Amino acid sequence: MKIDIVTLFPEMFKGPFDESIVKRAIDKKLVKINIHNLRKWAKDKYKTVDDHPYGGGVGMVMMVEPVYKALKDLKKQSTINNQQSTILLSPQGKQYNQQKAQQLSKLDHLIFICGHYEGFDERIRQLADEEISIGDYILTGGELPTMVVVDSLVRLIPGVLEKPEATKNESFSPCSLRSIGYYLEHPQYTRPANFKGWKVPEILLSGDHKKIEAWRKKQSLKRTKKRRPDLIKTKTDLQ
Ligand SMILES: C[S@@+](CC[C@H](N)C(=O)[O-])C[C@H]1O[C@@H](n2cnc3c(N)ncnc32)[C@H](O)[C@@H]1O
Repeated sequence: MKIDIVTLFPEMFKGPFDESIVKRAIDKKLVKINIHNLRKWAKDKYKTVDDHPYGGGVGMVMMVEPVYKALKDLKKQSTINNQQSTILLSPQGKQYNQQKAQQLSKLDHLIFICGHYEGFDERIRQLADEEISIGDYILTGGELPTMVVVDSLVRLIPGVLEKPEATKNESFSPCSLRSIGYYLEHPQYTRPANFKGWKVPEILLSGDHKKIEAWRKKQSLKRTKKRRPDLIKTKTDLQ
């Protein structure tokens, strides 16, 4: 997979992409991430990419022309058969979730546009295939949301995780219980078996894998009902 990120703050991506699973995916050549400074596509000598809003108001607005030029260049580098999507990060976009991460992880080429300032010229919306929000709150720019989205989808690319089954029963992932919704993962424990009187459930120490599996499913359902009943599909949803 190829990922192009258009940003005004390329340095922000140092660190998150140089560690852990994303780095491993890059090293294994399963993903190539290119960070581009939007100013590269500015037309004046001052590299201007923002301006005052028409009609007045506070803050600056990201200009449409540099983004248009950036996308024209970057899309040219995508081959015809490539499955590509251009994503605009925006608090007004569709809320991101695990199903979206799975969908994006199957594409060949993703382009992310990170907004900044007060926002972006409305016409930039027409240049994107989709608009993604990572939640109902306002961040300074689209850089952190892009990191969140990239991290979550890269770990789903086949071959990235050493044990791919790790993603199968994770919270929000389709699993054997899928027909009735997306569940939260069951509780996990590790040594010691008894910490200051807080004991690990006996069943997990029994070595009976069938019983453990059944216990985990039950726990998964129980905690989903308690914490996130909205994830459980009703009969009407399934029709
Ligand atoms: C300060 S925000 C602009 C918010 C805009 N004035 C509004 O009210 O919708 C600047 C940029 O940060 C990014 N951003 C902020 N919050 C976000 C969120 N929750 N999800 C995705 N992107 C976000 C977007 O790229 C946005 O253009």
